[in-house]
Amino acid sequence: MPKVLAQDKTIECVEAKPLVVRHRGTNLRKILLKNGVELYNGKSKLINCRGIGSCGTCAVLIEGKVSPVNWRDQTRRSLPPHSPTKDLRLACQTRVLGDVRVTKFEGFWGQGSQIVWKSEAENGEKGEKSYG
Ligand code: FES
Repeated sequence: MPKVLAQDKTIECVEAKPLVVRHRGTNLRKILLKNGVELYNGKSKLINCRGIGSCGTCAVLIEGKVSPVNWRDQTRRSLPPHSPTKDLRLACQTRVLGDVRVTKFEGFWGQGSQIVWKSEAENGEKGEKSYG
């Protein structure tokens, strides 16, 4: 089972087996929220699109195997304050396909360059990266 490393948590993805498989993998937004990870910054905890892919406030940096970028993710992140050149993804439009590490940046949309939280590596490794 894939693991999601986010904030101070290591989350095992346990997928329910549906009768008909429409999408592979677990929705990253759902698993983060279900496990108490602070996906949203500040007031975006209240003001967000609840996973439709239109607000852009669930943007995170993901390292690991996830689903390809879909058109909603690509479109929203091409609009300010996001930038299509940044290596972020919308958690609500991303499915976890393997072990991943997640990093959240500052700003209402998570568009900033300062890290709010990052994954705590299982091996104790803590990278101090800043993405601008
Ligand atoms: S929750 Fe709004 S874009 Fe992801």
